[in-house]
Amino acid sequence: MRSDTPASRPVLLVTRRLPEAVEARAARDFDARLNPQDRALSGADIAALAAETGAEGILCTAGDRLDATAIAALPEEVRIVATFSVGTDHIDLNAAKARGLIVTNTPDVLTDATADIALLLMLGAARRASEGERMIRAGAWSGWTPTQLLGTHLGGKRLGIIGMGRIGQAVAQRARAFGMTIHYSNRRRLPAEQEAGAVYHADPEAMLAVCDVLSLHFPATPETTHWLNAERIERLPPGAIVVNTARGSVVDDEALIAALASGRLAAAGLDVFENEPNLHAGYRGLENAFLLPHLGSATVETRNAMGFRALDNLDAVFAGAEAPDRVV
Ligand code: DGY
Repeated sequence: MRSDTPASRPVLLVTRRLPEAVEARAARDFDARLNPQDRALSGADIAALAAETGAEGILCTAGDRLDATAIAALPEEVRIVATFSVGTDHIDLNAAKARGLIVTNTPDVLTDATADIALLLMLGAARRASEGERMIRAGAWSGWTPTQLLGTHLGGKRLGIIGMGRIGQAVAQRARAFGMTIHYSNRRRLPAEQEAGAVYHADPEAMLAVCDVLSLHFPATPETTHWLNAERIERLPPGAIVVNTARGSVVDDEALIAALASGRLAAAGLDVFENEPNLHAGYRGLENAFLLPHLGSATVETRNAMGFRALDNLDAVFAGAEAPDRVV
């Protein structure tokens, strides 16, 4: 805990409303400038507010776009941007590095919550959960029938995971409990104890043919933009299911929507979208798209842990120590 007097506490600009316990700690340890209205801020807004408040640190979130222009506009006093997310694709890390700005993220603490959502998406897509829910809410359920809303089992199916980091491994662990066979592709092969019987494919493209369910777990970078395109979808078995809890930009929406509309793919479970919250309108009309509004880390426990982790990084930097989750 910082022991400084309130007057000497560093000014911390917090870009969005955060869980109560996190805001309380931020206000205790920093001269925190909160956003009680939870107003969405552009990069230019953040830079202007940083200048106005004399911020030395910024606690931002995954929805705040800090591109090179916004970073260049930040006042010199800002030493650190601690993002309340594991993903950092909303921040131009090269620009941050060039300016000597410290950027930290919140790894580990959202692994389980995100893996849980990946399984929810798999089940929801395979078992047509949102179709059933919509039927009930519309008052259109006329009763149980033997052929109503038949889905498909996850058990016995092959799950292909691209990106076998913390979240990918947590998804594999859960999927095994459903009786799925695990295939994965990753830059490096995992040691046998972490692999736990999963089949390694050095080439993700070569793995696609065995993915009854494909789950994406790699970061959004210029190289991975629209990675899942029409050509790669064509390599999946007919009737495959696609799940995305990573970032929307890794999927070519037009290609996925076309494959869902034609029945080439049975279903998709999506928690993330390109240009959130303005997702491609084509998804809304697809019965076989199970859609969630970026809920991967949305549990009280996880969001508190993410906030505390971001504050740990800020505390470290203002105490003159190395930030534990420094990205650049
Ligand atoms: C992240 O942390 O990157 C998530 O997408 C938001 O929880």
